[in-house]
Amino acid sequence: MTTGAPRKEKPTVRPMRLASATAVLGFVSTLFLLSPGAAQVKVPPDFTFPQGKDSPGVVTFSHEFHKGKVEKCTGCHTKVFKMKKGQTGELTMAKMKAGELCGACHNGKTEVGGKVVFAADDKANCEKCHKK
Ligand code: HEC
Ligand code: HEC
Ligand code: HEC
Repeated sequence: MTTGAPRKEKPTVRPMRLASATAVLGFVSTLFLLSPGAAQVKVPPDFTFPQGKDSPGVVTFSHEFHKGKVEKCTGCHTKVFKMKKGQTGELTMAKMKAGELCGACHNGKTEVGGKVVFAADDKANCEKCHKK
């Protein structure tokens, strides 16, 4: 009977503490969810490059395929390629022959997973990248 008074007080205090605690928890968990999320950027779908002069055919780049071969994103990003389409600049065979761009691996020398990657400047391989 007499315990009625203290009981009444408690509920007015509790919801306020709960509300602010929930707000803080919500904020903190959002931070935790965002940081690992940023480290695992989604792999973009296959895309084609705009064709340069005399390009023998459209080149499609597959992240899905390369992901299975080149273990880390840092194998290409951002030393070899910018992480935004079109930002790396013009892709030319001259640069590839000089060991840049696709030619950083596709040079007939670099080994990935114990296998020599096919060379970009070998006539037998043009069609592996350029499709009519
Ligand atoms: C074998 C090389 C290679 C690897 C490995 C690679 N990428 Fe890329 N990525 C590219 C190229 C090439 C581009 C396009 C660059 C350009 O056009 O300037 C690109 C572009 C991107 C873009 C921008 C797409 C857009 O629409 O603007 C994202 C995002 C990206 N890569 C994420 C990743 C992630 C995540 C990984 C690791 C799982 C990864 N890449 C591994 C070559 C690679
Ligand atoms: C590893 C992939 C790859 C291989 C193999 C490759 N290319 Fe390319 N090439 C590209 C990409 C990517 C571009 C840029 C997009 C475009 O212009 O179609 C390009 C662009 C070109 C261009 C236009 C720009 C420039 O450099 O003048 C020509 C011409 C060309 N390639 C010829 C060839 C020939 C000939 C072969 C075979 C000896 C070959 N490519 C093999 C990826 C490749
Ligand atoms: C970090 C290394 C690396 C870079 C850079 C790279 N590749 Fe590759 N690529 C590989 C490896 C490894 C393979 C599989 C081994 C092989 O086929 O010789 C491969 C295979 C391929 C294949 C064959 C796919 C198939 O279906 O058999 C194509 C096409 C290709 N790459 C295109 C490109 C183009 C276009 C670029 C540049 C925009 C590029 N690669 C840049 C490592 C790389």
